[in-house]
Amino acid sequence: MSAIDQGVVIVTGASAGIGEALARQLASRAKTLILVARRRDRLEALASQLTAAHRNLEVAICECDLVDGASRERMIADIETRHGPVDVLINNAGVGDMSLFELTEWKKLDMMIALNVTALTHLTHHFVRGMITRKRGGIVNISSGFGLVAMPGFSAYCASKHYVAALTEGLAMELRGTGVTVTQVCPGPVATEFVHHIGDNFMEQDAPSIIQISAEQCARSSIAAFDRSSVLTIPGFVAAFLTYWGAALPRWVRRLVFTLAVPILRKKQLAMQASKSST
Ligand SMILES: NC(=O)c1ccc[n+]([C@@H]2O[C@H](COP(=O)([O-])OP(=O)(O)OC[C@H]3O[C@@H](n4cnc5c(N)ncnc54)[C@H](OP(=O)(O)O)[C@@H]3O)[C@@H](O)[C@H]2O)c1
Repeated sequence: MSAIDQGVVIVTGASAGIGEALARQLASRAKTLILVARRRDRLEALASQLTAAHRNLEVAICECDLVDGASRERMIADIETRHGPVDVLINNAGVGDMSLFELTEWKKLDMMIALNVTALTHLTHHFVRGMITRKRGGIVNISSGFGLVAMPGFSAYCASKHYVAALTEGLAMELRGTGVTVTQVCPGPVATEFVHHIGDNFMEQDAPSIIQISAEQCARSSIAAFDRSSVLTIPGFVAAFLTYWGAALPRWVRRLVFTLAVPILRKKQLAMQASKSST
């Protein structure tokens, strides 16, 4: 039996996108779902839909800005007091940055690292210890294809997701034989609000539909990977093919090819910033 079944499951970033889809799909299996995000109204709406559809499910809402360390500490204490041991932690909350490194603001990078790296590490470090003691449980880290292949225009975001990839791989080795598993999910483009929160979008259009998957498909693949104790999954056939292919290329080939895009990206972003500052 998976730790999800009749378990206490935390989903961070449950107010939208992949996190919301995960919560909907886990609702028929978990005993308690703990939904974490900043937008309380969205969490409340989701919680009332889930409890109406699943009579035996308990849904708890944690309004928390995960960037803030003191808020995370309060949230952890509150969860443990109210719900006891946590069986599954899904670190899904994350933000992106699409920018040439020197053109992005430090404040934005600082916030992204605090969420994608520090909050994920803090929650994992806290909850994994109880799981190891109980010899039961698991963690799902929603990373990205950018956690496996670096790209210009996304350097800091890629770096934050490479951190998640390295942490998950190392942790998976350390956890072997403990009864606790860790899974990283490395999607390509997923149709969510993610890109709208990203700021300057020099791609100017959505990812091609052949590579983009839905939040529901991403959530389904993530849960299936966790159930079979996979350390790594890349949802979507096309994204998986391109990511494995990209990661298999020698680094110098990737560098040579991707570097060609840099002058175009820089020009586009400078033009975007100039037109913003003139309005
Ligand atoms: N969409 C893609 O193309 C894609 C591709 C690869 C990987 N991913 C990864 O998938 C994960 C989920 O992304 P998504 O596409 O579902 O994005 P999304 O639709 O923008 O949802 C992001 C979620 O994170 C929460 N969040 C953001 N900042 C937070 C904070 N400071 N504290 C607490 N919660 C916070 C948001 O809730 P509130 O705003 O209510 O706080 C929201 O629930 C991310 O880790 C992302 O890096 C996405």
